[in-house]
Amino acid sequence: MSVTVRVPAKVNVQLAVGAARPDGFHDLANVFLAVGLYDDVTATPADELTLTCEGPGADQVPLDRTNLAARAAIALGERYGIEPSVHLHIAKDIPVAGGMAGGSADAAGALVACDALWGTGASRDELLDICAELGSDVPFSLVGGAALGTGRGEKLELLDVGGDFWWVFAAAEGGLSTPAVYGEFDRLTENTAVPVPEASPALLDALRTGDASALAATVTNDLQAAALSLFPSLKATLDAGTAAGALAALVSGSGPTTAFLAADPESAHRIAEALTASGTCRSVRVAPSPAPGATVLRGQPL
Ligand code: C5P
Repeated sequence: MSVTVRVPAKVNVQLAVGAARPDGFHDLANVFLAVGLYDDVTATPADELTLTCEGPGADQVPLDRTNLAARAAIALGERYGIEPSVHLHIAKDIPVAGGMAGGSADAAGALVACDALWGTGASRDELLDICAELGSDVPFSLVGGAALGTGRGEKLELLDVGGDFWWVFAAAEGGLSTPAVYGEFDRLTENTAVPVPEASPALLDALRTGDASALAATVTNDLQAAALSLFPSLKATLDAGTAAGALAALVSGSGPTTAFLAADPESAHRIAEALTASGTCRSVRVAPSPAPGATVLRGQPL
């Protein structure tokens, strides 16, 4: 058998960042929304742990044991006393190093695929525990939909979403390192009192009622200033999307992908065309939300 698992990208509709903790992480109020851009991770029995990757940006993806998908297979194997002799193939569609949790999605996909392949009988909570060890965004990639992440983002409370929200994503030329963006956040907020991060009740209401205009009025990203400081040309992309009629324009997570909330699918396609014509970004995608979490597509006989 080989098993293929589809995993979604995410956008943060609220990313409230607190002061750096003693362990170097930041406490967050992180409202995740899974969006319909996916990577597919296939696990196939093999003599040893190997990895391949195809798709846009695949050449920037490490194929050794530092890859978060490989680390997920190793962590699951260690927990259940199974040798992680598996080949992982990642078909990429989520922008690499883009602030859309592509690496986290691959980890969640590899975990669910290996779990199905090996029949560990792990509960969902056990899988979520391993996800949290792998990275702050990995638990959300497993559950999908919408959720409030607290702690460093790994403690999840599922949220209701009352309708579809349409997004346009503009991938930038190049990537940004998440630790570098948090480091820049620390630099920019030095000598200021950083408030304790809290979820916005108005934003949670907008999600619950499916109201795109209300969501647009409440989206925030505390990492945006840091991402713009390290990647100033993103400002031109944000301006181009706003001029094309986006209800809201923001940096996705730690960037450098930018996200534009549209009133409806037609408007999303108009904004996408305008962004492409603007020449301010590498590629443009339209995607709906919410999207499901890690989903087994098929288990194929060899
Ligand atoms: O948890 P993850 O491995 O995805 O985090 C990557 C990096 O992002 C961390 O090493 C840290 O520098 C930064 N980070 C942070 N606070 C968080 C999440 C991530 O400072 N809540």
